[in-house]
Amino acid sequence: MRDEDLTLMRRFAVEPGLVGLDWGGFRDAGAVARRFAEDGYLSERQSILIVAADGVTAGMVSHGQKVVAGHGTFQEIGIALLPEFRGRGIGWRAQAMLCDYLFQHWPIERIQAGTHPENVAEQKSLVKAGFQLEGILRAVEFRAGRWRDAHLFSRLRSDPDPLLGTT
Ligand SMILES: CC(C)(COP(=O)(O)OP(=O)(O)OC[C@H]1O[C@@H](n2cnc3c(N)ncnc32)[C@H](O)[C@@H]1OP(=O)(O)O)[C@@H](O)C(=O)NCCC(=O)NCCS
Repeated sequence: MRDEDLTLMRRFAVEPGLVGLDWGGFRDAGAVARRFAEDGYLSERQSILIVAADGVTAGMVSHGQKVVAGHGTFQEIGIALLPEFRGRGIGWRAQAMLCDYLFQHWPIERIQAGTHPENVAEQKSLVKAGFQLEGILRAVEFRAGRWRDAHLFSRLRSDPDPLLGTT
């Protein structure tokens, strides 16, 4: 993330609907600069990387460390592209590239991602990025006025890399 990308982060904080069902209400746009000054948006709990298409900022991906139990940690990822960059093959490639990056630098076996039943674009994008649907978490998240299910996907280190052999 660069200084000029903070505008994108502020937009995601204050523009209802820009991230679809993941909109959770207005957030302090001033927190964007504070977080950037603190750690450049890179921390074990949550890191954010910018997705660029031909050098132009198209959106962002996130990742963070999670643990279910015991000593096994894994990473959970997320993504949001600006509307004008959606449906052009950027989303699945960005998530596949993020997986390669995470498997390269973290000794993890598993990457997890969740999305809403209505979000067909993200479900298809995750499958194209090498993820498999594991199941449905019922009524796990309160968004847009009601409790909603989540489709849980994962990609393991040993799963095929869809970027191998693509240009
Ligand atoms: C979800 C998102 C990341 C997907 O990225 P994208 O670049 O738009 O999707 P891609 O172009 O990589 O498409 C991947 C697949 O989804 C399909 N797809 C894309 N948009 C679609 C839509 N609106 N409805 C149905 N299918 C769609 C594509 O056709 C492609 O499948 P195909 O190869 O079988 O044709 C992006 O649309 C986005 O940022 N949406 C808003 C934020 C969001 O929902 N984030 C995820 C929260 S969990």
